[in-house]
Amino acid sequence: TERTTDPAPHEPRRDAGPGQGAGVVVVAGALYDRGRLLAARRSAPVELAGRWELPGGKLEPGESPEEALVRELREELGVEVEPGERIPGEWPLKPGYVLRVWTARLLSGEPRPLEDHDELRWLSRHELDSVDWLDQDRPAVAEAALRLPPA
Ligand code: CDP
Repeated sequence: TERTTDPAPHEPRRDAGPGQGAGVVVVAGALYDRGRLLAARRSAPVELAGRWELPGGKLEPGESPEEALVRELREELGVEVEPGERIPGEWPLKPGYVLRVWTARLLSGEPRPLEDHDELRWLSRHELDSVDWLDQDRPAVAEAALRLPPA
């Protein structure tokens, strides 16, 4: 029987066989500082621009998720971080992409929107709903809020 809706054959499949794993893993950081969580507003691509996310990016071959997180936050924000625990869960992005989130602690530097973002905000617990989070980041942010250390 012919398929009428082909699931984007050029994209890696999340449910593909052995060796494919989860497809493309995007790691993001729940970065904490003095009781606040860092939110980053995307500047690109157009369909995501203006929406807020936990900063991060794609895992590169041979990297551990923690290494990828350290690299991405260095590139995007100009800071050094120490990864903490993984926030349980995994959230689908576009087909073939999943989001996994780690907590992270700021070691040095003041985050600046160097790449991918045009604004950053440190949000306290009661400010977490004040930005328009990407839909796929919302459950991760809720989990991150539960782990927000005291100020
Ligand atoms: O920096 P890199 O090109 O590796 O990755 P990215 O463009 O920042 O993120 C890859 C994909 O994951 C994009 O489609 C982002 O929109 C998505 N993403 C997300 O949905 N939520 C995040 N917290 C981080 C990335």
